[in-house]
Amino acid sequence: MKKNKLRSRRWTAPDDLRAFGHRSRLKQLGWDADEYARPIAAVVNSWNELNTCHAHFPERASDVKRGILQAGGTPVEIPVMSLGEQLMKPTAMMYRNLLAMETEECLRAYPIDGAVLMGGCDKTTPGILMGAISMNIPCVYLPAGPMMRGHWRGKTLGSGSDVWKHWDELRAGKLSKTAWMEIEDGIARTPGTCMTMGTAATMMLAAEALGFSLPGASSLPAMDSEHRRMAKRAGRLAVEIIKGGRRPSDFLTADSFDNAITAVLAAGGSTNAVIHLIALARRAGISLSLERFAELSAQTPLLADIKPTGAFVMEDFHIAGGSRALLERIRPLLKTGAMTVNGRTLGENIAGAECFNDAVIRRLDSPVESSGGLVVLRGTLAPEGCVMKAAAASPALRRHRGRAVVFEDMADLKARIDSPDLPVDADSVLILKNAGPIGGPGMPEWGQLPIPRKLLAAGVRDMVRISDARMSGTSYGACVLHASPEAAAGGPLGLARDGDEIELDASAGRLDILATEEELSRRRGVGEKRPARRLSGYANLYVRHVTQAHEGCDFDFAARRPGEADEPDIF
Ligand code: FES
Repeated sequence: MKKNKLRSRRWTAPDDLRAFGHRSRLKQLGWDADEYARPIAAVVNSWNELNTCHAHFPERASDVKRGILQAGGTPVEIPVMSLGEQLMKPTAMMYRNLLAMETEECLRAYPIDGAVLMGGCDKTTPGILMGAISMNIPCVYLPAGPMMRGHWRGKTLGSGSDVWKHWDELRAGKLSKTAWMEIEDGIARTPGTCMTMGTAATMMLAAEALGFSLPGASSLPAMDSEHRRMAKRAGRLAVEIIKGGRRPSDFLTADSFDNAITAVLAAGGSTNAVIHLIALARRAGISLSLERFAELSAQTPLLADIKPTGAFVMEDFHIAGGSRALLERIRPLLKTGAMTVNGRTLGENIAGAECFNDAVIRRLDSPVESSGGLVVLRGTLAPEGCVMKAAAASPALRRHRGRAVVFEDMADLKARIDSPDLPVDADSVLILKNAGPIGGPGMPEWGQLPIPRKLLAAGVRDMVRISDARMSGTSYGACVLHASPEAAAGGPLGLARDGDEIELDASAGRLDILATEEELSRRRGVGEKRPARRLSGYANLYVRHVTQAHEGCDFDFAARRPGEADEPDIF
């Protein structure tokens, strides 16, 4: 590894008045001169007391610091905004870009040579990585790891997935209130992220496949003692890559993104990964379109039998061999020469990984689904595209024609969905408008529209549902998501009316509203204008600069043009 000139020495080495100020104030913190002469490694900690999934981060930050000290660095903990998926409103997604900006600017503004990035709960991983890619100094990602399995009356409970399932049973009158409360007690038992293949587990895996973390880190349960040892090793690695000057741009390539997408598809990962990976690629100056997801989906089998599409949870996945075993299983589909943060290729990092349970991580010759787990659709209802997790939809609904039942926004849906008068049957297509990046705002996870109560009572458990929203990675059903452009940006979803005939054909990649162009044009002219909302502060900035789903929902000013140099430090 070549010797790297330390960025922090710009603050501390000169013989001038400003450097005197910097050194004297570091001494105020109790530092000796040799401490600021070493590599200064930030521990970027997305922790707070309301992020339920990062409760172990104070201890993990200590473990990381031990590793940094062991390797001859000086650790500094930098708290950044913590995006707790469950408790933030209107949606943590709206704040992903704010976390990205905060990460980038904290790394830029302070005398920091490199960092360990601590994330895990859904939007924290893409947010923190987007910032690190834009800043482009040596960084290693530390995934929070999933929580242990949930329990209820001797059965395993999976985060999210089993909530939706039992909520439907409760609404259908088939589950008692007492049982529902027992589930509330037993579904989240330890620190760590959702333990199904939701967005958190998906993005932790994607980060590993991109090359950003230590091999095998992404599936390690948060409460496993190996997680503490991995954190310490991440600290040591941060100092090593600072000394060698290995930055994200040294290992992120189009091949890395193909690997991340392939891993996500083989794991049955969240549709949210589509938006996040496009945003990450654009930050890296790498072109990535929805079509690439469709191409890789067509050739990638689903191997991980994990909820919400499968039967097991992340703890089972870890015991079966975890992320390295899955990646080794799909080795023929990976670009194994892609470089990673530890200086080895992805192929070297997964070499020799064994699978100990073929039911949890299927063999290539006996997959859960042979291909096409994620479908990209285009058509008159979504000209710029939309996505559907076909593996999580009832097979009979992957090709469907039905009459629309349209909700103008979430308030309208809440008010009418359970009305006995709602003109809906099992073949209807439920449509939710104005839940996209601008309309939400923040593109909330409302895409798994609830099944109307009267249909639940009649035994219906899945329907075609279409929106410009996202869906939780732990959700399932025939939900068509991310319709782009969204209704609030003038997309044709906004023109849909009750009774319109809608045609979905997942295998043909089509989603159409069967109305004539003349009729749609007429509606464009007479549509009622929604009252303007007063948005102040960050929400105002967000809706003015957020891009559409097919562009990653990042800010329009944040993407790096291919080949564009790093932003220079203003010192
Ligand atoms: Fe944090 Fe699901 S709520 S990962």
